Amino acid sequence: MVIHVENIQKSFGKQEVLKGIDLDFFEGQIYSILGPNGSGKTTFMKSILGLVKPNNGKIMVGGSDGMKDHEYRSNIGYVPQIARFPENLKVNEVIDLVTSIRKQPSFPQEFVELFQIESFLNQRLKNLSGGTRQKVNLVLALMFKSDILILDEPTTGLDPINTIRLKELLLQLKSEGKTIIVTTHILHLAEELSDDIIFLLEGHVKYHGSTDRLLKLSHTKNLEEAIAAILQGEIDSEEETPVVNIYNRKKNA
Ligand SMILES: Nc1ncnc2c1ncn2[C@@H]1O[C@H](COP(=O)(O)OP(=O)(O)OP(=O)(O)O)[C@@H](O)[C@H]1O
Ligand SMILES: [Mg+2]
Repeated sequence: MVIHVENIQKSFGKQEVLKGIDLDFFEGQIYSILGPNGSGKTTFMKSILGLVKPNNGKIMVGGSDGMKDHEYRSNIGYVPQIARFPENLKVNEVIDLVTSIRKQPSFPQEFVELFQIESFLNQRLKNLSGGTRQKVNLVLALMFKSDILILDEPTTGLDPINTIRLKELLLQLKSEGKTIIVTTHILHLAEELSDDIIFLLEGHVKYHGSTDRLLKLSHTKNLEEAIAAILQGEIDSEEETPVVNIYNRKKNA
């Protein structure tokens, strides 16, 4: 196991965002974290990265205690949901800057070519289109060839061709044994990419398992319908399923 998360709780003021999350992440697997806006996906990812400090719980990353030892972060590639760039820098300047901060010997040529941003290297970040900024953001996260990748809405702004490029790259990295955790609201992408779906709702994991199992439980044909079924409480209440019928939860609790 690469990442072990136990009973993670996080509140912002009185708002309880994560109410006790237990999850294990293994190598060579892609996990999609799904859930409505504000369900705590980014907060959960930032907790693993050490960018948000949980109020309670335990996080182990590659054998290091994620709450104390922050060295492990250098082995995680992270694409934030909202990237904050030094806007006046040019693309090649920001790549050089990041390269000099972290131990990376060479220019990330393969990723620059993959996302076709060669012609933008001399442009200032503030002048880039949304999709091109996102490609720069992806190159900056991928260039270190980290064993763990945490990607928060990585397809935001990408056109269909680049979304396919990213998808193929992630499947390639998975086959090399990387652990990939991704959030997306594009359900067909989650369906095509993921070994496991993790559905967050109201601070809890409402479903964790394969897409196939979820489709079977919900008697649906695709993830979109299956998630509608979770939200409408239409999942079969098999005893072994961790899927909770949210509308009947109070009754059954
Ligand atoms: N630093 C913060 N201070 C106060 N509240 C916060 C902070 N970060 C997140 N929150 C709140 O925590 C909740 C969960 O936010 P989070 O960004 O984790 O959701 P999300 O699932 O990633 O949503 P989205 O799909 O919109 O990206 C929201 O209600 C948000 O307002
Ligand atoms: Mg988010």
